[in-house]
Amino acid sequence: MRNFYLTLVIVALSISTAQAESLRVSSPDGEITFALSFNPRSEPVYTVHYGSEAVVRESRLGLRFSHQAPLDQALEIIGNQRRQANGQWEQPWGERRWVTDRHNELLVQLQSTDGQARRIDLRVRVFDDGLGFRYEVPEQAAYGQVNILDEITEFHLPGESTAWWIPGRRYNRYEYLYREGKLTEVETAHTPFTVRTPAGTYLSLHEAALVDYAAYVLDQRRDNVLQTNLTPWSDGVRVRTRTPFKSPWRTIQISPDAVGLANSDLILNLNEPNRLGDVSWVEPGKYVGIWWSLHRATETWGSGPRHGATTGNTLRYMDFAARHGFDGVLVEGWNIGWDGDWFHNGSLFRFTEPYPDFDIEAVAAHARKRGVRLVGHHETSGDVSNYESQMSASFDLYRRMGVRQVKTGYVADGGDIKRRGENGHWRHEWHDGQFMVNHYLRNVQEAARHQISINTHEPIKDTGLRRTYPNWIAREGARGQEYNAWGDPPNPPEHVPLLAFTRMLSGPMDFTPGIFDLQFEREGEQRVIESTLARQLALYVVIYSPIQMAADFPEHYEARPDAFKFITDVPADWEQSIALAGEPGDFVAFARQARGGGDWYIGAVTDEQKRELNLPLDFLEEGVSYTAEIYRDGPDAHFREQPYDIVIEQRVVSRGDSMALTLAPGGGAAVRLVPLSD
Ligand code: NOJ
Ligand code: CA
Repeated sequence: MRNFYLTLVIVALSISTAQAESLRVSSPDGEITFALSFNPRSEPVYTVHYGSEAVVRESRLGLRFSHQAPLDQALEIIGNQRRQANGQWEQPWGERRWVTDRHNELLVQLQSTDGQARRIDLRVRVFDDGLGFRYEVPEQAAYGQVNILDEITEFHLPGESTAWWIPGRRYNRYEYLYREGKLTEVETAHTPFTVRTPAGTYLSLHEAALVDYAAYVLDQRRDNVLQTNLTPWSDGVRVRTRTPFKSPWRTIQISPDAVGLANSDLILNLNEPNRLGDVSWVEPGKYVGIWWSLHRATETWGSGPRHGATTGNTLRYMDFAARHGFDGVLVEGWNIGWDGDWFHNGSLFRFTEPYPDFDIEAVAAHARKRGVRLVGHHETSGDVSNYESQMSASFDLYRRMGVRQVKTGYVADGGDIKRRGENGHWRHEWHDGQFMVNHYLRNVQEAARHQISINTHEPIKDTGLRRTYPNWIAREGARGQEYNAWGDPPNPPEHVPLLAFTRMLSGPMDFTPGIFDLQFEREGEQRVIESTLARQLALYVVIYSPIQMAADFPEHYEARPDAFKFITDVPADWEQSIALAGEPGDFVAFARQARGGGDWYIGAVTDEQKRELNLPLDFLEEGVSYTAEIYRDGPDAHFREQPYDIVIEQRVVSRGDSMALTLAPGGGAAVRLVPLSD
């Protein structure tokens, strides 16, 4: 990657600090301090202070194994090393082009006190916006092949904290409505897990660089003490590995306000740099496709009279895409396997065999002619063995068809991913266990060999691996727009302001915004999307993804060219992004500048409350006037009663002005700011 630089300075090395009571490392600005010490039982424990506030009280650390002695007790410090980093690196695509990585690092070397020299290291990096630490277990004779049975990393948070979270280890993976409540009400929760302490500090617990390890969910073992609970394999082992190995980073983002979490680059900074080299073939952009009709049940994935993925239908979408400047056309349901109960028939999918009414060669030729790309689709229904046996061939086919992006899918209940075991028996795994963590990455690596990017649905949570593998372009991993077609309940207005401070802290989401027909019948049932029209536009700025779908039918867009203009204008790749204002579950506003261009965009959404925002435009360039193209809720707009009441207007603004926006209940606003050249 061009212009990458990171300066590492070794500032201290002390080989033996045997009796050291406590080791500390602080953020470059001195506000955050991580301290490692031992409790009276010789167990390593840590604390984190933010200024004078103990945001993590004494919390345990360590690993336990099936065969070897645990590495969580009877340990002492035998050495430590410190480093500092201060640099910037460039993202090939992203919320911002340049990312600053400034941190202080402490590596603590621990050894058992029983004379057997059992070793485990803890590496800690403290940034101004939080910290990460990970276990590094060096190669050692007694720990060759290991089965990790438990990781006992604790996060002892301040009592009376408020938490925003979804439950973990459940059937519906990450697709739950976020909850707000007292920390003590949490049982098992996924990360990112967001907290506000009684002192008003915002924290987010998560992990970075989850590779060849199990994801963790948080388990509240006693009040206010959350512990990592690693997702097990089907046989109960959590992680199979061998020394030397590293755990993912355990991360704690820390901010005096909620937007500070959304502006943090900590997760990316804790991932390894790009390993793919030239990734000019990774193409951010916008797409349409044969998708919403399947969820609205006007067309079917399966073959038959209402089959969606026909050649003719695809050409129609391609022509629409070409007319309006879209890059891609997603087609779901073109390959054999969708007939019958596709949720449970994953073994039937043929990833290279089209239904007779889908001429993939003709479709690809038409795409080439019209300057758009077919966007591929691989639904596995959780039969990963079936998929893996066809993965390479299916990417070969797509590559020949000019496909640059494939959306994958793992529709199966949590714990019900199918894997053909060593002796031929079926094994059932979790989407976030080590087996699947490795599968998702294998899929991304195999795709990279074919210059294809992956948009994973029913994914493993994002831990920032897009930095290392920039072809992992987006994923789902929360309730997306599809829930508005058939979900019970649909996504309530507070869902997006919750996503912004939870799920979105981990990385891009393929939410698929842009529904214009907000009230419709589906299989005889009246559906109401809890959104105004202006809010659907705002989502393109609020929910970050380098690939954005315009999810509705072409005819619904062509009926509203005034509002549709915003979707055709808005880019998917950014020079800069700023979370301007917001509170979890209440509202959120972002400003983003187009990659390589002077245009700025603002997106804001609220919950079910009407809200007045006054956003200072101090991010605009000094001395430049901008035409603000404003798409806002009209005076009577309301997500149930009047979703289509929208005002589209223009005015001239500049730095120093503020943008006053009134958001209707369930509403939003979208603004494009174009520099005036005189
Ligand atoms: C679930 C995905 O999230 C959705 O977008 C897709 O249409 C279905 N699976 C079918 O693959
Ligand atoms: Ca889904």
